[in-house]
Amino acid sequence: MEKVIDLVAGARPNFMKLAAVIWALQAISTEREISGCSWRIVHTGQHYDPGMNEVFFEQLGIPQPDVHLEVGSGTHGVQTARILERYEAHLLERGAAATVVFGDVNSTAACALAAVKLGLPVVHVEAGLRSFDRSMPEEINRVVTDTLSEMLLVSEPSGIENLKREGIANGKVHYVGNVMIDTLVRELPQALGLGLPRELGLKNGEYGLVTMHRPSNVDDPRILKGILELMLQMSEKIPLVFPVHPRTRKAIDTNGFTGMLSGAPGLKYIDPLPYHHNLCLMARAKVVLTDSGGMQEETSYLKVPCLTLRENTERPITLTLGTSRLVGNDPAWIGAAFNEVLAGNWHKGEDIPLWDGKAAERIVQVLLNYDF
Ligand code: UD1
Repeated sequence: MEKVIDLVAGARPNFMKLAAVIWALQAISTEREISGCSWRIVHTGQHYDPGMNEVFFEQLGIPQPDVHLEVGSGTHGVQTARILERYEAHLLERGAAATVVFGDVNSTAACALAAVKLGLPVVHVEAGLRSFDRSMPEEINRVVTDTLSEMLLVSEPSGIENLKREGIANGKVHYVGNVMIDTLVRELPQALGLGLPRELGLKNGEYGLVTMHRPSNVDDPRILKGILELMLQMSEKIPLVFPVHPRTRKAIDTNGFTGMLSGAPGLKYIDPLPYHHNLCLMARAKVVLTDSGGMQEETSYLKVPCLTLRENTERPITLTLGTSRLVGNDPAWIGAAFNEVLAGNWHKGEDIPLWDGKAAERIVQVLLNYDF
């Protein structure tokens, strides 16, 4: 059996976090060696479209996965079960010394469960975040993964409080900061070197960027239509770029909303963007509207106003120190907040502790102190 640490990723928001940890591991050894172990990359295949997947590996220089489980899409039960079954089979065949999982996607919880049942320590990067909303699949994944983890690596102070309240032993919890910000810090100069937003016919600081894919915003046609109609109105004030997630595109197509979007002169309805392109557009936007947890954090770091299209957030520091405000999915609320940004009436945001580009170095220190 191999003495290897598995780094597991499956969906788009995992890849930029994985990249930061790999760079920090490469910085301590070119031989893939840490604490007497090697490391390898396991891709579950939860996301498989090239635009959601390969392009991130290419742009961030992540080595090709050593193992690919090719699970694809399915209902939550089917997808989670498939990952669990295939990752367990991989562990039984090849063995591992530990499993590192990232974030809160189905791949995170499923691989943590497979590993812990085989007696392996699980390391959770981005532990302790809680929205307290169990209707979100990610909240279930967060709670399950944290319960199973041996090392819980926390990105913001609320995570420490949440884990303490849930009775997780103090010694397992490490406040390391935000690895996604590591990637942003390193990649921002290259991202800003792109020809955007000019290539899209837009001017710096004079457009909005919109992304959404959460079931609460896109699964109910009435809610989705309300947000899309509002976007059309907003796009008459400033142009909007709307890179669309596959599940959102499917909802737009199925409900017959495609025509109304393609006819709007101020709205650029485009495919999902590569990492650098999205970062560049985010950094230069006047405002970002999103239901992505990662973009709430990135806009806070960049000090760009962010209207978070959700009722709650597991990342409260983006509301207190950051530039985000919860606006839900009611067009009246979103529209009012949008007008406040246009009027220049928005909180500026402050620097967030340990979002300093060095979180992955601190993670590597935690790993070096563990006896595998
Ligand atoms: C997943 C994560 C979510 C994360 C999001 C980022 C879970 C529960 N959700 O949501 O936390 O914010 O990724 O993107 O893990 N699809 C494609 N091509 C792909 C991937 C998905 O067409 O490469 C379509 C399929 O129709 C699929 C649907 O999108 O059924 C949903 O994909 P899935 O992986 O289940 O969840 P996401 O909505 O992407």
